[in-house]
Amino acid sequence: MGIFSLVTGRPGPSGYGSASTAEQVTEGIDASNLTVIITGGAAGIGLETARVLAIRKAHVIIAARNMEAANRAKNTILDEYEAANVDVLQLDLSSIKSIRVFVDNFKALNLPLNILINNAGIMFCPYQLSLDGIEMQFATNHIGHFLLTDLLIDKMKETARATGIEGRIVNVSSVAHLLAYEGGILFDKINDRKGYSDKRAYGQSKLANILHASELSRRLKVEGVNITGNSVHPGFIMTNLMKYSAVSMKIMKMFSFFLWKDVAQGAATTCYVALHPSLKGVSGKYFEDCNEMKPSAYATDPLLAKNLWDFSRKLINSASKA
Ligand SMILES: NC(=O)c1ccc[n+]([C@@H]2O[C@H](COP(=O)([O-])OP(=O)(O)OC[C@H]3O[C@@H](n4cnc5c(N)ncnc54)[C@H](OP(=O)(O)O)[C@@H]3O)[C@@H](O)[C@H]2O)c1
Repeated sequence: MGIFSLVTGRPGPSGYGSASTAEQVTEGIDASNLTVIITGGAAGIGLETARVLAIRKAHVIIAARNMEAANRAKNTILDEYEAANVDVLQLDLSSIKSIRVFVDNFKALNLPLNILINNAGIMFCPYQLSLDGIEMQFATNHIGHFLLTDLLIDKMKETARATGIEGRIVNVSSVAHLLAYEGGILFDKINDRKGYSDKRAYGQSKLANILHASELSRRLKVEGVNITGNSVHPGFIMTNLMKYSAVSMKIMKMFSFFLWKDVAQGAATTCYVALHPSLKGVSGKYFEDCNEMKPSAYATDPLLAKNLWDFSRKLINSASKA
């Protein structure tokens, strides 16, 4: 796979490529025995992912901070597929309290959990701190998903044990992980305002998504748990994600239109990694255009992944006490 395949859509070893859509990569898959949580499932790539998983008959829980948008998303899916099994639950990933409430509410439903798709994200926002006092892109894109996964993992283990069905966790990262700060993750300066770069902070948070999936996968393998953890880059898709950089992105797209995908193609890699039977047992990997790819050197550094894990736990503990 490379730039030629990206532009032409030529399929890679998986049989799919940049032109494949989420519907195409899940064709013929029956997900009626699966329950899925997708964060940010009310808009953009997340909504298309939720729609396609729902038409494959999965029970889809859209986790969204904006309940109006979430209900609109649910109705859009139901309008197309009346039998869809879709629920909505409120979740603000930039708030530790909201994540804990979401998990309590989900557990109260007494549902199994087979698949967790950590999809929600923000990009290139000006410097700001979350309610818990953590730099906003790191808080939303990484810390929120780290805590959410941690609080749901027992439910996923229980489900995998009881059903014998492999659980899957998919972190929606980005090729922008290559933009991370020198050193990868600024452990000592995570909230540093002076050195803040909106691009590099986004890159750092997306690098964290990959490191989180790989360390999670390592731990699950050691425990012998039937759950995989992988990360994906969906491609370049014009969505509301670009709201902090709309003008520059539109200009960039004019010159690089051949590199961009539509939303149906943008949701393909996530759906492929979440559902495709050919990925049974595949864990700790990074995918682009529905094919395994090698991410940056930082993203494949096991020590950085372990340090990020420990750092994230400590950060959540101290923020929870404050
Ligand atoms: N689009 C691309 O070109 C591209 C490229 C590489 C990677 N990605 C990744 O793909 C994922 C989806 O992006 P997208 O393009 O679909 O963007 P999008 O259309 O902006 O969707 C992002 C979703 O995340 C939600 N979200 C943001 N902050 C949240 C929070 N604090 N709590 C809960 N939900 C929150 C948004 O909800 P609101 O509507 O309430 O804000 C929205 O539903 C992101 O992780 C992004 O980094 C996208």
